[in-house]
Amino acid sequence: MGNKTNSIAIDGPAGAGKSTVAKRVAAELKFACVDSGAIYRTAALYFIEKYGDGAEKAIEDKALLKEELKKFAIDFKVDPALNFTVLLDSVDVSSKIRTQKVSNFVARVASNPEVREKVNERLRSFALKNKVVMDGRDIASCVLPDSRLKVFLTADAKIRARRRYDELVARGEAADLNDILAEVIKRDEMDEKRPVAPLVKTEDALLVDSSNMNAEEVIQHIVKLAKKEFEL
Ligand code: DC
Repeated sequence: MGNKTNSIAIDGPAGAGKSTVAKRVAAELKFACVDSGAIYRTAALYFIEKYGDGAEKAIEDKALLKEELKKFAIDFKVDPALNFTVLLDSVDVSSKIRTQKVSNFVARVASNPEVREKVNERLRSFALKNKVVMDGRDIASCVLPDSRLKVFLTADAKIRARRRYDELVARGEAADLNDILAEVIKRDEMDEKRPVAPLVKTEDALLVDSSNMNAEEVIQHIVKLAKKEFEL
């Protein structure tokens, strides 16, 4: 195991519960938790705030993007209580990145190889210095291929749609189960078929299918795997 990094990679499709699970697993093990999707969301927010309706065009303009990548300071911090926050020009934007506008634009930003390289450098440098649980789409395949433990967390698309529907209804928001399922299927396709860093289960990743498990069961299962792997 000589060259393995002290990281746990959790990859999987949207709505599999990665963020919740990653946060809780990290808290139980006293590892830092890094939500890589939040960093792409922060990049998306930067372009939306700066370019408004022209954000898509700005991303496609190679020269402009090169300049922007030098300029903007996207970063994150993990405080002593292990809370993760994303920062844009040193301001905490953790809530601002959860709007529908950002959700609609982020895939466009995350599919850009230059943006990915910048984000990945930051993620890797953090993981070299910290024990970390990192969740995303390409953590095991691309960002931290030397992770000591790799988990591919998934669930049936219909079940992921149902969970999202229940969440929205619980918040008192209007929701249509068929529409949500169609969105889930579309996002899966986009994640799996994109040319750069597609969502993929690496051979050495352990498959955890949460279709018939609740969050607590998934968390305890991964904690158990981690304790064995890290000899904790
Ligand atoms: O998990 P999420 O919805 O917060 O992710 C936001 C977007 O970023 C989504 O389009 C997938 C993408 N993403 C990625 O390309 N690579 C990662 N490691 C994490 C997220």
